[in-house]
Amino acid sequence: MSDGPQDVAVRPAEDVPCHDPDEKKGQRMTTKNALERLTAVRGLENVIAGDTRICTVDGTEGCLIYSGYEIRDLAAHASFAEAVYLLWNGELPTELQLATFRDRLVTEMRLPSQVIEMIKLAPPSAHPMDLLRTAVSALAMYDPEVEDRSPEACERKSIRLLAQTITIVADAHRVRHGCPVLSPDLGMSFGANFLYMLRGRIPNEEERAAFELLLMLHLEHGFNASTFAARVTASTLSNMHAALTSGLGTLKGKLHGGANERAIDIFDSIDDLDAIEDYIDGMLNAGKRIMGFGHRVYKVEDPRARLLRRHAHALCRRAGMADLESIATRIEQVVLDRKGIYPNVDFYSGLVQHALDIPKAYFTAIFACARTAGWLAHIREQYADNRLIRPTSNYVGPIGKRARPIAERG
Ligand code: CMC
Repeated sequence: MSDGPQDVAVRPAEDVPCHDPDEKKGQRMTTKNALERLTAVRGLENVIAGDTRICTVDGTEGCLIYSGYEIRDLAAHASFAEAVYLLWNGELPTELQLATFRDRLVTEMRLPSQVIEMIKLAPPSAHPMDLLRTAVSALAMYDPEVEDRSPEACERKSIRLLAQTITIVADAHRVRHGCPVLSPDLGMSFGANFLYMLRGRIPNEEERAAFELLLMLHLEHGFNASTFAARVTASTLSNMHAALTSGLGTLKGKLHGGANERAIDIFDSIDDLDAIEDYIDGMLNAGKRIMGFGHRVYKVEDPRARLLRRHAHALCRRAGMADLESIATRIEQVVLDRKGIYPNVDFYSGLVQHALDIPKAYFTAIFACARTAGWLAHIREQYADNRLIRPTSNYVGPIGKRARPIAERG
């Protein structure tokens, strides 16, 4: 899996014969142009794919900035809803603006009855991310403004989609566990409402603070894979629901948002501090990845992991799982020692959600609810200054072959 020279597709530009599809002419043409592009950047690493005002990540300094504000500063002084407002409007809200914004979000949490039915009819084995992706896609059919890309309609749809996404995940969890679905409580913050609608009990202050922070840290992360996928879809001038569906499908993968569900598995496999070294060595020697570790951009510690660690440890202690705190710390030390890599946000978001008594299957879907707000900001930014995103490839396949009628092949 290295990015060494053998992985870079390089072919000399040359005149290579290629058959004209018009057989009657029987002429040969060259594909010099097709072969002149010499290198492809594997995984698009360090490729700058567009301008954005929404977010930037400095991987060498371990710095994450939302619309000009450093994440530690925001985490200390703002809620999830305030950070969403910031990304969508370019500035933090006043108290009045926040109150209006939260009211609008809470009012839009209702789902069309057909989508509620869909959630009820989904097989119990369906992964919450598959259910969420399908439900968001279905919402397009019930949104009267689905094809309206005016800034005003996009703003209204953003409110609707973020609110509805949270309801889908909370309702899916409640329905599947045979519990009644819950309406939001206007007296609570948007993040606290999400946790309340999911678990059915009002979070205490420690739980609320940890969950608000978790949502804020998952909200946005520049041109990551799912955001890029959403922007590609938006760049074709497809609708917002379609772009979100692309983002959701991309986030689910275990190298991206799906890592948080796998990251917690390690705690099931280890119950003794002394077993950690052997476990990690065994994984690495078998060529396996330690989920929740490493990052394409961060070469130092992921600031999101740093911010969540303290909450994860406190919640574990409060939930009577203090052993997980020391196991997590030891895992960090061993992986850093063996591979020189740090935990990413998913390592600690898995632990925080586990300590909050959220079932593992919902970890990525909760990440997705927060990231929905980030995707929506990017989709609107893309619409506002659009050019079709359409890269090219370095063809490394054969040319010059001749198609024979099927009877003559074999
Ligand atoms: N465990 C073991 N080795 C790793 C890991 C890991 N988690 N991550 C990277 N490496 C090694 C990899 O084996 C390679 O080593 P070598 O050079 O000796 O072959 C080197 O580090 C570079 O790996 P890479 O695959 O070229 O790096 P990348 O930038 O393509 O990968 C990554 C980034 C996130 C896919 C990778 O670190 C990974 O697979 N991590 C585990 C999955 C994970 O936690 N994903 C969540 C990412 S953060 C939240 C999000 O964006 O969703």
